[in-house]
Amino acid sequence: MKRSKISIIGAGNVGATTAHWCAAAELGNIVLLDIPQTEGMPRGKALDLMEASPIVGFDAQVTGTNSYEDTADSDVVVITAGLPRKPGMSRDDLLETNAKIAGAVAGEVKRTSPRAIVIVVSNPLDALTQRVLQVTGFSPQRVMGQAGVLDTARFRTFLAMELGVSVEDVSAMLLGGHGDTMVPLASCASVGGIPATRLIGPGRMEEIVERTRAGGAEIVGLLKTGGAYYAPAAATTQMVEAIVRDKKRLIPCSAYCDTEYGVGGYYVGVPVILGAAGIERIIELDLTDAERAEFQKSVDAVKSLVETMSRE
Ligand code: LAC
Repeated sequence: MKRSKISIIGAGNVGATTAHWCAAAELGNIVLLDIPQTEGMPRGKALDLMEASPIVGFDAQVTGTNSYEDTADSDVVVITAGLPRKPGMSRDDLLETNAKIAGAVAGEVKRTSPRAIVIVVSNPLDALTQRVLQVTGFSPQRVMGQAGVLDTARFRTFLAMELGVSVEDVSAMLLGGHGDTMVPLASCASVGGIPATRLIGPGRMEEIVERTRAGGAEIVGLLKTGGAYYAPAAATTQMVEAIVRDKKRLIPCSAYCDTEYGVGGYYVGVPVILGAAGIERIIELDLTDAERAEFQKSVDAVKSLVETMSRE
C-alpha cells in the first residue's frame, strides 16, 4: 500500500510533536517545514526523529525542509505555524499576526498541494481556519480545524480524574469555537455508557466544565513560554489518522457550518464524521435551550473575530 504524504507546516513544539506521533503510528511519510530563517532546524528535528525509528520500530520517512516544493502533492497538510500565547493573552490576541501567517501558508499549500486535506491548528483556531478556506478556495469538506478533540480530551481527563476511572471509558462531546466560550456538553459525557451526570453532581460538573474551558490557559500559565503541545499534537494525530485510514471517526472538529445549526457560513466546533474525504458529515444534535444559548454566544464570538480579521 502506498504511504500517505503528511506535511506539517511549522516545526515548533506542536508541529514537531505531531510529526513524532504520526511517525510512531506509521500514518505515512512526513515532511516537517519551517520558515527559511530557521535553516537546519526542521531538518535536524526530522533526522533526529528518523534515528529513533529503529528503536521504536516504525517505518516512515521523515524529512525536514524550508521549501514548500518538498511538500508537493501532500495528502494531508497540518498547519501549526504562528505565534503561541503568553500568560495573560487570550487566543484572540494572536489574530493579527497569525492571520497573516495562515494566509501566506494557505497560498503555498494551494500552489503545491491542490488535492490536500488541510487541518488548521494555529490560533485563534476557528477564524484562521476560515482564512485558510478563503485563500485556498478548497471545498469546506477538505479544510477543518483541530480543537474539539483537544478540548474533549481535557474534559475526559478531568472526568476520569474525578471518578478515578480509566480515561478509556470516558467519552465526551463539545460544541462551539475554540475559545473562552466553548461549550463542553455535560449532557453528552459518558463513563462506560453511563451518563456522567448520573455520577457527578451538577455543581461539581460545572467546575469541571469551567476547568475544561480554561484548559489551554492553565497550561500557558504553567509553561509561561508558550502553549500546550503534547495534547494538541495527539489530537491532531487522531484527525490525521481518521483521514489516512478512512476511520469515519465521530469527533468534534471545527467545521464550516452554513445551514447546520443555523450558523450561516462560519467555522465552529461541531460533531462530524471524519474519513478519507475529510468532513464527510456534520451531525446536528437537538440542543436544550440552555445549550443553544451558550452555543450561540460562542458562534457570535467567532463571527466577531472573523469580522475583525476581514477588516485587517
Ligand atoms: C490550547 C491551545 C493550543 O488549547 O489552543 O492549548
